[in-house]
Amino acid sequence: MGQTILVTGGAGFIGSNLIRFIMQNRPDDRVINLDGLTYAGNLESLAEFTDNPRYEFVHSDISDSEKLDEVMPRVDCVLHLAAESHVDRSIHDPSLFLRTNIIGTQMLLDAFKKHKGKDGRFVYVSTDEVYGELPLDDKSQLFTESTPLKPNSPYAVSKTGGDMLARAYWHTYGMDVCITRCSNNFGPYQFPEKVIPLFVNNLIEGKTVPLYGDGSNIRDWLHVLDHCEAICRVLDDGKSGEAYNIGGNNERSNLELTRMLIELCDRDESAIERVPDRLGHDKRYAIDATKIKRELDWEPTRSAWPEALELTVQWYKDNRAWCDHVRSGEYRRFYEQNYAART
Ligand SMILES: NC(=O)c1ccc[n+]([C@@H]2O[C@H](COP(=O)([O-])OP(=O)(O)OC[C@H]3O[C@@H](n4cnc5c(N)ncnc54)[C@H](O)[C@@H]3O)[C@@H](O)[C@H]2O)c1
Repeated sequence: MGQTILVTGGAGFIGSNLIRFIMQNRPDDRVINLDGLTYAGNLESLAEFTDNPRYEFVHSDISDSEKLDEVMPRVDCVLHLAAESHVDRSIHDPSLFLRTNIIGTQMLLDAFKKHKGKDGRFVYVSTDEVYGELPLDDKSQLFTESTPLKPNSPYAVSKTGGDMLARAYWHTYGMDVCITRCSNNFGPYQFPEKVIPLFVNNLIEGKTVPLYGDGSNIRDWLHVLDHCEAICRVLDDGKSGEAYNIGGNNERSNLELTRMLIELCDRDESAIERVPDRLGHDKRYAIDATKIKRELDWEPTRSAWPEALELTVQWYKDNRAWCDHVRSGEYRRFYEQNYAART
């Protein structure tokens, strides 16, 4: 039987891909997209579902308890993605990160507890950044679910706060909570402040790309739809109280990534502009995803490079209007025309 899934942050990069994944692959389910529409939320990413009876948009902050009181009774489960998500912004101003990612998560958990109690699953979408960093010179080291949480950036600390709170609501109140910890996502509809869409846009527009430090920092890259599939597996079959690592087994240095993007955009290395390193820049993230593979039969099937990266770059080349709108804030006009008038 179908269920009503509350997706928070559904107008963002992963949230919009997740809603499309659910709409296309789970025809019995309904989705309520609850999003505060910060600079990173863009309803144009979900324009095709505006009038779909299985989809509903609720414009709300995750800490608006009155709005949550209206929505929660109609919900069977929650996929909680809403967050301030950009590490650089968190370094510049941590306070909003703590408010949304910790206090906001607590308010959402409280609303779920109040209206659903132990009846329904709450999935907290966390990140591999909660584990801190790994050294560059020992590739045998990977993050497992039992690696101690040792976050380094204000963003990572705020996500760790939400991650630990979610577990605490399972431990303390017996709520049905699962946690996912994923590596870096790539794919369509990512706000062009993050490295791949930012670099592709700059390269297409003939600009330089700002590469941090010597470019040796390593990230593991996973296609966003592989992440979405993993979140749904955890929703359906994850064990309550457990965390699941999700990764692509696809480690690349930032320099290697930059060179691949330069090639895919027909530019040369003169496009690289070396900029001072990010403060406290984590050296390497790498995920051991054995648990979710073994217990939930999940495997990444869309993340192989260079093909998957090539398709992503092509998407940004083909969707210039989307990029221009989100960068200029023009998507707000879409919201005014399609949603604001209805409420
Ligand atoms: N992008 C990645 O590579 C990655 C990797 C692992 C985990 N994550 C996690 O996945 C989640 C989604 O990441 P993303 O990259 O899609 O982020 P994003 O910045 O693209 O989207 C965040 C969304 O949350 C909404 N939002 C922010 N604050 C809100 C608030 N107070 N109330 C309601 N809505 C609010 C925004 O409007 C936006 O639509 C985050 O929790 C992030 O920590 C991201």
